[in-house]
Amino acid sequence: MPVDGPVPWKRAEHTGAKHDIYRRYLKRWFPILLAGSNAYPSATYAEGFAGPGVYSDGEPGSPIIAMQALLDEVSSEKPVVRFLFIDDDPRCVAMLKERFREVFPERPRPSETTPMKFVEGKCGEKLEPWLHRIEAWGQPILAVLDSWGNAPISYRLLRRLADNPASEVIVTFGPQSFIRFVSTLGEGADEVFGGDPSWREIETMSTGAAKRQHVLTCYRRTLERAGFQYLLDFELIDSRGESLYLVFGTNHPRGVQKMKDSLWEVDRVYGVGFRDPRDAQSEALFDLTDPQLAPLSRLLLEKIRLASPGGIRVHELREFALFETVFRQEHVIRALEPLRDRGAIVADTTGPLRIASRVKAE
Ligand SMILES: C[S@@+](CC[C@H](N)C(=O)[O-])C[C@H]1O[C@@H](n2cnc3c(N)ncnc32)[C@H](O)[C@@H]1O
Repeated sequence: MPVDGPVPWKRAEHTGAKHDIYRRYLKRWFPILLAGSNAYPSATYAEGFAGPGVYSDGEPGSPIIAMQALLDEVSSEKPVVRFLFIDDDPRCVAMLKERFREVFPERPRPSETTPMKFVEGKCGEKLEPWLHRIEAWGQPILAVLDSWGNAPISYRLLRRLADNPASEVIVTFGPQSFIRFVSTLGEGADEVFGGDPSWREIETMSTGAAKRQHVLTCYRRTLERAGFQYLLDFELIDSRGESLYLVFGTNHPRGVQKMKDSLWEVDRVYGVGFRDPRDAQSEALFDLTDPQLAPLSRLLLEKIRLASPGGIRVHELREFALFETVFRQEHVIRALEPLRDRGAIVADTTGPLRIASRVKAE
């Protein structure tokens, strides 16, 4: 869907935070893959919804941020890094090329080791064949799929990416259009969920929060079914309460760890908070330095109640927090203490909880 209005447009509040997270993640992703002891000879950064590379007040778009992260972190010119940018608005494609020329007037890396392709067309039709044309398959790919939220991405592409070595996706997903138009959206909408129509159960749900949570759960399951073993999904909430939902899929636990570090390091200047989409009370965390851990306490209590009668170790709850919530492992003990204080859980140890402690529901 081409841009409905002028190009470039004004950067939304949470877009600044999202870019800060991308930047921090890419500054880790490029060196891990290309400069570490197990370095790959090449990798591909691909965007299916690239945008014009700039916002109306001059801030850089994600393609420029990605190139800068590579230049900042990988000094060797040897590894091949392919960049592929797709957008269906010709104005965006033209402006993005122009933007690269302006920001990097001298080619920062040789064209043989940094081939770049700008393609006009639909992500659903172009991304997969172009990844083939530029010989990206078989080496790591990071696919950034940042649509307006309707996620017109083929399930087949997600499966291929999940199956490709060391490949990851970041998808921007907006539940609102699915909720608003559920009765008129046809089979194409089921395709977004890999052909599974169960997202349509929202028609029988009475609250907006329940519908939102259900659609997000269905989308998360879509990435799981596609083959991504580890997912990190979260909502970024701006000061007006508008949310942007991002799902990150990887097959490497280190990917989740690094993405989570990037998330929690987000520059406080953006004033953006997070929300864990699984929290039934949809509580947003704005103070990231000293976060309010009540949503994590709720999620942990649910997990502990589902554990075997013998209880569950704090160590396992830390794994759960890392891989299945927006929180960090180090938040877990702090979130368990109030549960113990109010008698909702008991521990097999006295004194402060430790990683080896076992807890169970009362
Ligand atoms: C949210 S913007 C991308 C912003 C960019 N990733 C950034 O962070 O700077 C979404 C872009 O997707 C493009 N677009 C929308 N639907 C598309 C489709 N089906 N295929 C390719 N591009 C599409 C729009 O023209 C727009 O430029």
